[in-house]
Amino acid sequence: MEKIDNILDKSCPIGIFDSGYGGLTILEKIREQLPEYDYIYLGDNARTPYGTRSFDVVYKFTLECVTQLFEMGCQLVILACNTASAKALRSIQQNDLPRIDPSRRVLGVIRPTVELIENQTHTRHIGLLATPGTVQSGSYPLEIAKLYKDITVTSEACPLWVALIENNEHRNQGADYFIRKNIDNLLKNDPLIDTVILGCTHYPLIQDRIEAFLPKGINVISQGKLVAYSLADYLKRHPEIESKCSKNGRINYLTTESVEKFTVSASVFLKSEIQAEHIDLDENK
Ligand code: DGL
Repeated sequence: MEKIDNILDKSCPIGIFDSGYGGLTILEKIREQLPEYDYIYLGDNARTPYGTRSFDVVYKFTLECVTQLFEMGCQLVILACNTASAKALRSIQQNDLPRIDPSRRVLGVIRPTVELIENQTHTRHIGLLATPGTVQSGSYPLEIAKLYKDITVTSEACPLWVALIENNEHRNQGADYFIRKNIDNLLKNDPLIDTVILGCTHYPLIQDRIEAFLPKGINVISQGKLVAYSLADYLKRHPEIESKCSKNGRINYLTTESVEKFTVSASVFLKSEIQAEHIDLDENK
């Protein structure tokens, strides 16, 4: 893989950001749908998880990562992280973009997910599994209420799931205990739920375990394909952004943590070998 410094002056990749590995589940689906574009994936693994952190901290960390991706030439950055989308997206769009560069765009994953759930639920009762940060932000119920007045959303915060996945402990029996516990809580709080949103980009990695503990017939919504579809649609509707994105089918992976650790774990997530590079963020930005 060509090193990031060598390609930056000649390309304008789409930035994909997550606190760690979770965004890889989104990147994978985006690349399936839009293989021709160049991408930079940035995982802030050194500071993950974000889901248990305050609004101010998630906003600060996310802005640092977005700024870094802008400096690397990205015109468009996708926050492939629900926690960052819930806690930082609006401030970045409204306060920072006008100051940094009004022609750049930052998009999240919550709106694209919510826009496409309409036909999934018959009972009109939806469950949300997400990090404490996303649940506490109320972003999903708020966005859903804007579009569909008749849908009830019940949320369950799963504080340990990301840590289990990031530490590669999610296939162990100990993990099953916590997965089952949160699912039982969710269904106890609303037994009419027929559709469950995986509102954290890490959770597709444990989708089989989640489905094993949910009663048969409950629809599980994973975001990758929805976000990919929505991005394709966005690029069609915004030729002024699309025309700036370079198209050599390249991907570069950056991590704020150790390259060795990222390379091994990301290869498991993506089921293929990858090469990553380390990046130090300038925290004074
Ligand atoms: N994958 C992220 C999300 O979608 C964040 C997980 C975390 O860092 O806590 O919320």
